[in-house]
Amino acid sequence: MLVSATEMLKKAKAGHYAVGQFNINNLEWTKAILLTAQELNSPVILGVSEGAGKYMAGYKTVVGMVNGMLEELKITVPVALHLDHGSYEGCLKCVEAGFSSIMFDGSHYPIEENVAKTKELVKITREHGMSLEAEVGSIGGEEDGVIGMGECADPNECKMIADLGIDFLAAGIGNIHGKYPANWKGLSFETLDAIQQLTGDMPLVLHGGTGIPTDMIKKAIDLGVSKINVNTECQLSFAAATRKYIEEGKDQQGKGYDPRKLLAPGFDAIKATVKEKMEIFGSVGKA
Ligand code: 13P
Repeated sequence: MLVSATEMLKKAKAGHYAVGQFNINNLEWTKAILLTAQELNSPVILGVSEGAGKYMAGYKTVVGMVNGMLEELKITVPVALHLDHGSYEGCLKCVEAGFSSIMFDGSHYPIEENVAKTKELVKITREHGMSLEAEVGSIGGEEDGVIGMGECADPNECKMIADLGIDFLAAGIGNIHGKYPANWKGLSFETLDAIQQLTGDMPLVLHGGTGIPTDMIKKAIDLGVSKINVNTECQLSFAAATRKYIEEGKDQQGKGYDPRKLLAPGFDAIKATVKEKMEIFGSVGKA
């Protein structure tokens, strides 16, 4: 059964580790992530962007697929199904479809409007026993066609949003989605420290987990990050493994064209990436 992410992230914050949010794109992604979490006895959050939700034929399809897998694959570790960077309307759709967690990304609104809309969603998610993530300070990079510049959030605005009753907070600290450019200055630990001092026990979320060096990840966890989002890295490892299979001509040998064979190396590559991340984040054995 799906659970909200509230308890797993409270435990992570208290225990000084982070739970990974791995974004899903299809059946192979979902199965690879769930099986890895079960094998490592780790809690996990499945992230679904609005674009990926549309690609997978809508939020209800996603809920049906994930619930089916939890039962048929006998997954017993805590699993949350979470809308990633949701619009207000997208959040309402996911509440209705049966997600267990949502992120409202109001970072592009003036702070008053972000506060007003987040407040509404606090009320709605509480009524449904779901968890809610809010965002202050836009995360850089491109996601679903929206390009953010990777700003650092204002710690006072973070406190304002954290006090509304949300469950965890994403704050920009110089992180960006996708690959980091060669001239990236790294995470702003000064900003993160100031945010944690003002927001106390609130679990903090680090977006753009792909390509952040391990020492920075560990320092971020020390400073209160309890959820780390990873998307691009699974896409890169899936693509590399699939490319290798085809370049070696394996799709042309025997029934190598069967999707169950063609997609197997990519599936295994996602599993390996998720395992590596869970080990770095410290969530192994914490289910
Ligand atoms: P990456 O694609 O950089 O791993 O970021 C994922 C993310 O933050 C999803 O919200």
